[in-house]
Amino acid sequence: MTVADKTTPVSHFERIGGAGAVRAAVELFYDRVLADAELAGYFTEVDMAGQRRHMALMLTVVLGGPNEYAGRDLATAHRPLDIPVAHYVRVGEHLTATLTQLGVPDDVITDVQAVLAQVQDQVVAGGDRADS
Ligand code: HEM
Repeated sequence: MTVADKTTPVSHFERIGGAGAVRAAVELFYDRVLADAELAGYFTEVDMAGQRRHMALMLTVVLGGPNEYAGRDLATAHRPLDIPVAHYVRVGEHLTATLTQLGVPDDVITDVQAVLAQVQDQVVAGGDRADS
């Protein structure tokens, strides 16, 4: 390792391979979610191409890449779905398994899991009810 290596901050996003790697992760992630009988029902009416695009932009932000996310905020998108904690946990497990399968480093996965914990109240039923 050189001095330059130490002084140049590299985001998780760059480390795992940028936009292409994130797209691959999102593909694999939704393939797993849609193959899970407990979860597939949430997505029957959803445009999955748009969904994958939104999720890729969201994951990019989580990984410290450029912020181009212009979708709805998480609470607005998920509150009508009444998602129980058990399903939230399951989705998180699919994301972790996906990143592991793609060889993403453990410290990156740990940081993604920390973000998942932070946004749980915005996604699950009865979590963030500031408007009611
Ligand atoms: C940390 C966890 C999660 C993140 C970061 C996330 C991210 C997203 C994003 C970015 C969108 C698109 C929002 C938009 O269209 O503007 C979305 C929509 C959606 N999410 Fe999630 N999600 C999470 C957890 C879950 C869980 C646990 C479920 C179901 C069990 C779920 C089901 C859905 C569905 C069905 C939609 C489409 C809603 C619609 O089109 O009306 N999500 N999510």
